[in-house]
Amino acid sequence: MKAAYDVVLLPGDGIGVEVAADARALLEGVAARTGANLRIDEIPCGGRFYLEHGSRDWPEDAEKRCAAADVIVLGAVGWAGPDGSPVTMSDGKMAGWSPVIGNRMRLDLYANVRPVRCLPGIKHGISGRFAQVWSPDKVDMIMVRENTEGLYSGVGGMHTTDDVVTAATDTRIITRRASEKVIRKAFQLSRERGQGAPADGKKRVTCIVKNNVLYGCKLFLDVYREVARDFPDVEQDVAIVDAFAMFVLTQPERYDVCVTTNMFGDILTDLASVLQGGMGMAVGCNVGDAHAMFEPIHGSAPPLAGKDRANPIAMLLATAAALDWLGRRHDDARLVRAHGAITRAVESIVAAGAPLTADLGGTAGRSAVAQAVREAALANLG
Ligand SMILES: NC(=O)c1ccc[n+]([C@@H]2O[C@H](COP(=O)([O-])OP(=O)(O)OC[C@H]3O[C@@H](n4cnc5c(N)ncnc54)[C@H](O)[C@@H]3O)[C@@H](O)[C@H]2O)c1
Repeated sequence: MKAAYDVVLLPGDGIGVEVAADARALLEGVAARTGANLRIDEIPCGGRFYLEHGSRDWPEDAEKRCAAADVIVLGAVGWAGPDGSPVTMSDGKMAGWSPVIGNRMRLDLYANVRPVRCLPGIKHGISGRFAQVWSPDKVDMIMVRENTEGLYSGVGGMHTTDDVVTAATDTRIITRRASEKVIRKAFQLSRERGQGAPADGKKRVTCIVKNNVLYGCKLFLDVYREVARDFPDVEQDVAIVDAFAMFVLTQPERYDVCVTTNMFGDILTDLASVLQGGMGMAVGCNVGDAHAMFEPIHGSAPPLAGKDRANPIAMLLATAAALDWLGRRHDDARLVRAHGAITRAVESIVAAGAPLTADLGGTAGRSAVAQAVREAALANLG
């Protein structure tokens, strides 16, 4: 157990800032209730920061502060400039790249672990109607996305002829090293949780690839087969990414742990969030061996910003996951208990059907939901 924990909070833009304030209030409540000393270091960042400061998307010392933190909690980045297009930095990267993709690469947060669980009571909003489409006993998987390379390596560029962009390239880098680390993580997660897929209770790691076309996927699958030999108790399973996009919605009960490359994982986890009630419910845990950063998987959702309409639950569950990671790493039962208390608070509110935001068919505002979760969590902590 540590005497104090340094928590970096990166609010970002839009609804990221709003749900980060909810995360902060929750962390402060947990600290007061448990006696854990959580020192919160809030670092402004993102598109708006870039617009205001001109040359950077976060302060100059932010990299160091993140590297020194015990854990990082991120809201979401992304903002539009005066012309309506996303704010882009002089190097062509999205403003907000440094705290998100930059942190993932610099801190070697090689696994983006995204639990996909449908809580009892969730109504799925499809075409403006709310009904329980997927049953909670059939949706309980973990998707693991490679987080440091692939199409998000930042290697590529624009080819210009007579001031007209005529071609653009994005180089997809897949290495044996990063593939092995993330695939091993997926097998370990399947073994650790032990419950297997909802359909048959079998521990299974599904490798999602397009190996019939892409060299990087051939390598990823080769490495998967090699790593799988160390886990004979976990069933091997391979899915082609396009077919998987259908299977994940039509037969989610088949999946225990899924592992894939960066961009496939980015897209598939947004798709899979539909099973959970949408992006307002989905958590992304960026984990490496030495550092970790927790976030809701959604972006800054500019149309919702400033309206108290964002669902804060993904961010509150991400905060709970950060506390759990810290607690397990430093053998601090107070923080592990706080994770349980927050999770149970969310489960009870979802089961009761209120207060919930509009994306879940409710009528409550973001701040009312966040307050209800915080109060129930602190009550659970006793
Ligand atoms: N990790 C990140 O910081 C991250 C991730 C994705 C997108 N982005 C950025 O966010 C900006 C907006 O991107 P986008 O509109 O494609 O994706 P988005 O996730 O911000 O929003 C898409 C839609 O999902 C719904 N939604 C998302 N979060 C919600 C919540 N908490 N509660 C209720 N509904 C919610 C809204 O209908 C929203 O319009 C862009 O600048 C993008 O680059 C950032």
